Amino acid sequence: MLFQELISKRQSVRKYQEKTVEKEKIQQLIEAVHLAPSACNSQPWKLIIVNNPELKDKVAKATFSKTVSFNKFVTEAPVLAIFVFEKAKLTARIGGSIKNQEYPQYDIGIAAAHFCLQATELGLSTCMLGWFNQKKIQQLLKIPKKRKVALVITLGYEPDAYKQRKKIRKPLDEICGFNSY
Ligand SMILES: Cc1cc2nc3c(=O)[nH]c(=O)nc-3n(C[C@H](O)[C@H](O)[C@H](O)COP(=O)(O)O)c2cc1C
Repeated sequence: MLFQELISKRQSVRKYQEKTVEKEKIQQLIEAVHLAPSACNSQPWKLIIVNNPELKDKVAKATFSKTVSFNKFVTEAPVLAIFVFEKAKLTARIGGSIKNQEYPQYDIGIAAAHFCLQATELGLSTCMLGWFNQKKIQQLLKIPKKRKVALVITLGYEPDAYKQRKKIRKPLDEICGFNSY
């Protein structure tokens, strides 16, 4: 798939078939994350693949509540990928502190994009989730208290009838300037 095609095809998918995701495909996704760049090559992430159905169901239920239910669809996804912030290399931490930047946030964003785009190429669908119960997921996945979950990503096969949506984006001149702001 051409890159242009890949980035057009990727969209947040909020409906999934029950179909299992093949182990080889999950392995390819892990390798795509492995190749992601990061500040000082710090690789400040740990990826947890949750494919045990009972555990996956519990983690999915930690992404919504009665009052905030927009992530209810997460229970349909057969796999969840959890990105955890790891401690960055000393050089990245010093650089980030001097420059007042949280480099691990960018690093994990890029790694997550690798994950989602690789998934698209493999015929799989994803949705990144920033809304979840931090504490509950930490407990369920035995994540040390000093570590924080950055993102949850749903993974699975979308239904055959799932439609490609038109992308709603700001106008180009609003997001990009040539030679000045
Ligand atoms: C950091 C981040 C957090 C997000 N959190 C959620 C979420 O909790 N629930 C959800 O349904 N979508 C979530 N999304 C998906 C966005 O809504 C979606 O990417 C955006 O509307 C653009 O649509 P597209 O992904 O289909 O191109 C999140 C995306 C990102 C990058």
